[in-house]
Amino acid sequence: MAAAYSQSTKSLLLGAFSLLLAFSPLIRSSEACGISVYWGQNLAQEGSLRELCETGNYSYVNLAYLSTFGCGQKFALNFTDHCDAASGGCKSLSTELQACQNRGVKVLLSLGGNDTRYNQLCSAQDARNVADDLYNTFLSGSNSDGPLGDVSLDGIDLDIEYPGSVNYWDYLVEALASYRTPEKNVYLSASASCSYPDKDLGKAINTGLLNHVAVRFYDDNPQCYCSAGAERILQTWNGWSSSLPEGNQLFFGLLPNSNAGSQCTPEVFTTEILPVITSSPNYGGIMLRALYKDISTLYPAAACSNEALHRRQSLISVL
Ligand SMILES: *[C@@H]1O[C@H](CO)[C@@H](O)[C@H](O)[C@H]1NC(C)=O
Ligand SMILES: *[C@@H]1O[C@H](CO)[C@@H](O)[C@H](O)[C@H]1NC(C)=O
Ligand SMILES: *[C@@H]1O[C@H](CO)[C@@H](O)[C@H](O)[C@H]1NC(C)=O
Repeated sequence: MAAAYSQSTKSLLLGAFSLLLAFSPLIRSSEACGISVYWGQNLAQEGSLRELCETGNYSYVNLAYLSTFGCGQKFALNFTDHCDAASGGCKSLSTELQACQNRGVKVLLSLGGNDTRYNQLCSAQDARNVADDLYNTFLSGSNSDGPLGDVSLDGIDLDIEYPGSVNYWDYLVEALASYRTPEKNVYLSASASCSYPDKDLGKAINTGLLNHVAVRFYDDNPQCYCSAGAERILQTWNGWSSSLPEGNQLFFGLLPNSNAGSQCTPEVFTTEILPVITSSPNYGGIMLRALYKDISTLYPAAACSNEALHRRQSLISVL
């Protein structure tokens, strides 16, 4: 009797276990898609944060931008027509931000977007001061008077695209990473130029402290011109992939704009690029630099397709 009981328990357990196995690709798929998207610079195309997160398509939202910081300047946010931070108008974003986080979306504040006069770091000490201010204002969760109200963002993204004469970004990254604790991770990402190494962020990337780096495959640079064929693009991707510090993830950055002729169309991306990049050991996902309603949804659909996920899944199980 007892033996029969334990036999049936065993098969029940076995059944539950294989069920779990069968579903594990699905459980993992949401993180495996790993789509990161910028939000804040185009109200008409992007819609609200809430809508964006409710699509369920995005794992990371980069709030664009903290456009003024560094060299002793007071922080200024610029979310264009979404809200006016200077008059306190962006505090109301906090409920939407929390709704995003409750869905498992990581919300990062993206640094950049203005010209170099308004966002550069003047010294190592300045970098550390900016890191402290960023943590206290946006990450700590204990500054309800801050420009985004009562939020605790998940991390910081660096979108530094203007050539600066000085370079202290590695100090900023190190100082931000020093706030990581077992209770609170500080997620760090950056967008990098298509050509390796990124002349502004190379040192910051080499710290190995960034969780992911998204390469801009829309830079005005022959190494990124999809119109010249996928081969060149994949060469550039492979160069980045083999140079990235261990444990960091690589994202393929896209600017889904039907008017931008030199970059990969959804067709080329789906058939020629995605099958190759999803086989790189450090592939993490794709980054959408902007949303355009007519075309953007095609890329998530490709990156989250069963095939792409399957390749990603076999990659994970090999690791
Ligand atoms: C915000 O950035 C946009 C460019 O993206 C610029 O046109 C606008 O003047 C900026 N607004 C402020 C208040 O700086
Ligand atoms: C850059 O920031 C400065 C100072 O906050 C502001 O006056 C200027 O309008 C900003 N420019 C853009 C393009 O955002
Ligand atoms: C979300 O992704 C699905 C495919 O996975 C796609 O059909 C849908 O259009 C996407 N929606 C948005 C708003 O990106």
